Amino acid sequence: MPAHKQTSVFFGVAFTVAGIFLQPAFADDAPTTTSRSNPEIEKRISLLIENMTLEEKLGQLTQQWGGESQDVNPGAKKQALDDILGVVRAGIAGSFLGAYGAEYTNRIQKVAIEESKHHIPMLIGNDVIHGFRTIFPVPLAEAATWDVGLVEQAERIAAVEARAAGTHWTFAPMVDVCRDARWGRIVETSGEDPFLSAKMAAARVRGFQGEGLNRNDAILACAKHYIAYGAAEGGRDYNTVDLSEYALRETHLPSFAASVDAGVGSIMSAFNEINGVPASANDMTLRGILRNELGFDGLVVSDWSSITEMINHGYAADPADAAAKSLAAGVDMDMCSFSYRDTLKKSVESGRVSIRLIDDSVARILRAKFVLGLFDNPYAEPSLEKRVTLSAEHRAFARKVAAKSMVLLKNDAGLLPLSDSIESIAVIGPLAKNQHDPLGTWSLNGRDEDVVSVIDGLKQRVGDKVLLQYAQGSDFLTGDDAMRNEAVAAAKDAKVALLFVGEAENMSGEAYCRATIDLPAPQLELVKAVHATGTPTIVVLMTGRPIVIPWISENIQAIVEAWHPGVECGNAVADVLFGDENPAARLPVTWPRHVGQIPLYYNHKMTGRPPAENNRYTSKYIDIPWTPQYPFGFGLSYTTFAYANLTIEGAASAPSNPIKVAVDVTNTGSRDGDEVVQLYIRDLVASRTRPVRELKGFKRLSIPKGETKQVTFELTRDHLSFYGVDMKRIVEPGRFQVFVGPNCTTGVEGEFEIK
Ligand code: BGC
Repeated sequence: MPAHKQTSVFFGVAFTVAGIFLQPAFADDAPTTTSRSNPEIEKRISLLIENMTLEEKLGQLTQQWGGESQDVNPGAKKQALDDILGVVRAGIAGSFLGAYGAEYTNRIQKVAIEESKHHIPMLIGNDVIHGFRTIFPVPLAEAATWDVGLVEQAERIAAVEARAAGTHWTFAPMVDVCRDARWGRIVETSGEDPFLSAKMAAARVRGFQGEGLNRNDAILACAKHYIAYGAAEGGRDYNTVDLSEYALRETHLPSFAASVDAGVGSIMSAFNEINGVPASANDMTLRGILRNELGFDGLVVSDWSSITEMINHGYAADPADAAAKSLAAGVDMDMCSFSYRDTLKKSVESGRVSIRLIDDSVARILRAKFVLGLFDNPYAEPSLEKRVTLSAEHRAFARKVAAKSMVLLKNDAGLLPLSDSIESIAVIGPLAKNQHDPLGTWSLNGRDEDVVSVIDGLKQRVGDKVLLQYAQGSDFLTGDDAMRNEAVAAAKDAKVALLFVGEAENMSGEAYCRATIDLPAPQLELVKAVHATGTPTIVVLMTGRPIVIPWISENIQAIVEAWHPGVECGNAVADVLFGDENPAARLPVTWPRHVGQIPLYYNHKMTGRPPAENNRYTSKYIDIPWTPQYPFGFGLSYTTFAYANLTIEGAASAPSNPIKVAVDVTNTGSRDGDEVVQLYIRDLVASRTRPVRELKGFKRLSIPKGETKQVTFELTRDHLSFYGVDMKRIVEPGRFQVFVGPNCTTGVEGEFEIK
């Protein structure tokens, strides 16, 4: 579509971005990724590099904190704007993070353009993780929608708001795969599955980067954290990773490969080491796999001081050693450790580092700036920023995403949805009247005052027809009798009690790992006390991770996982609880019964002794079941669906012909609803053992009550292949099972054979 059009099309849905006038910096043939496809740009890059001093080059390779007065990041220093402008003027800075707002970033940009010797614009990066000012649900929740179109559009909105506020680059999507709910950053992932994670990663990249990075509605995406950061031992952030190359490729690589295929402009190297070599200097993963195998030619940035942290790892002797090793492995930009700026000159002079490596990295950074159109259009537009920030349209979309991300975990006796004629509701819990924690982690530009609290959302929905009685009941980690008694009294007087319990925003996220992932004791006591009143009780969990809730799962009739839903929290909760939105979200992670089961994931191997009830010598525990509380892909609806008529065509075909799988899904209940149809395979015998089930397709679709829709999937060579013993992808002849259903444990089954 030509760049001057105001409307973008997503999966057939026309979506106009708040009347934005898009400004292409180049003609319609502008490059849309950071490839070297534009000879005019390449000429300008070479010319600049020829004329730059080594100090200026190292400046380009350096990213530093650019926020004048903010202190939102660990280790971030408040800076005087004069100091920031000073380094820009001297041409010894290439990129900032932590600088926000059209006016503020324009001040920095103006000095770069008008007062620095080469007039090179600054590249401003920020963590735009689940929305910019219009905060969407946390990424794990977005993944729970199983709706790639929706997630793409959410990132589009994030990009529109961010670019208008002077951000050119987001450190997102986070595409790490995680199978350990203790790890705080599971909240930023798309869960445990490589296939779902890869689909979400690609959607997010498309959403951020839009239809051309030179437009004022797009930002450069950054797939992070390369690689295997989600496999930290013990679920402890930044911790050691020791895993086979096979697991690295099968589990952790697909989401990065999908990001590269989707044209991601940058990649961030991770904090962790992998088998003894830190990810930020790992030649095998960076040059070997990323650059050579995947053909990624964009910019690689380190994580925050991950280069000098290699000294702590015991991999580098000092900052000079660390810088030389990271540059050699292919890290182009140093985020905030200053090791490139401060040591590489000496290393070039001593002959340890070749100037050619530095020039290559400078070129990648300049190329990103050209592709973003910054040399021609360096400034953000304050009037556009005003128009798009937190617009009514953006909020409406955030409400939709939040409602579509909420997972109905239990609904005995149809307690939900609530009836419009209910007389009174007790609204209880630390998240019931809360305008801060529903924003979730990494909502740097989110503001508490933007958040519709649960109680306000419910009030909006019911007006004065229903009596709402609020009591906090407990805090997140502490509570007392007086608070609890107040909640119990409110519950006694009401027809139904709604409990909003879970995690504070800072109980999941970077460095917020937990060894116990249960609902903190005071909140569980509150739930038990309210339940004991005999008033029908519904628990709405708001968390950034699966939490362990055996008592609640057994005793509470209705449970919803609402995650941290963002600015439209209360409205979305009301939509789901009253059935205006029929929930259809599904768990993107296996939900454990006990922390001791971790790592627990659905696509595990069979073992020689698969767990069996009546056989002691099988793979299980003697004290708790081996099964999860809720399986991967699980979630209920206010209606019901039935699966039938599985057909598989092309059963004996060569691997190059796709296998066509079809199934009829009928809405057998009394309401219209969405169903997330999931396809799993199992390769029964292979030269390397295969998982018991592997997700290879999913579709979220609406099915009106009483109707049947045929859902089709195609399985190609890609879906059936795996890394053989020589680390090459192969498809082996033999039998494959196919399962199509509403989660990873049930549905209809069939089989085909590759000859
Ligand atoms: C995080 C990154 C983030 C960076 C910049 C680091 O601590 O690991 O995910 O992008 O900070 O804020």
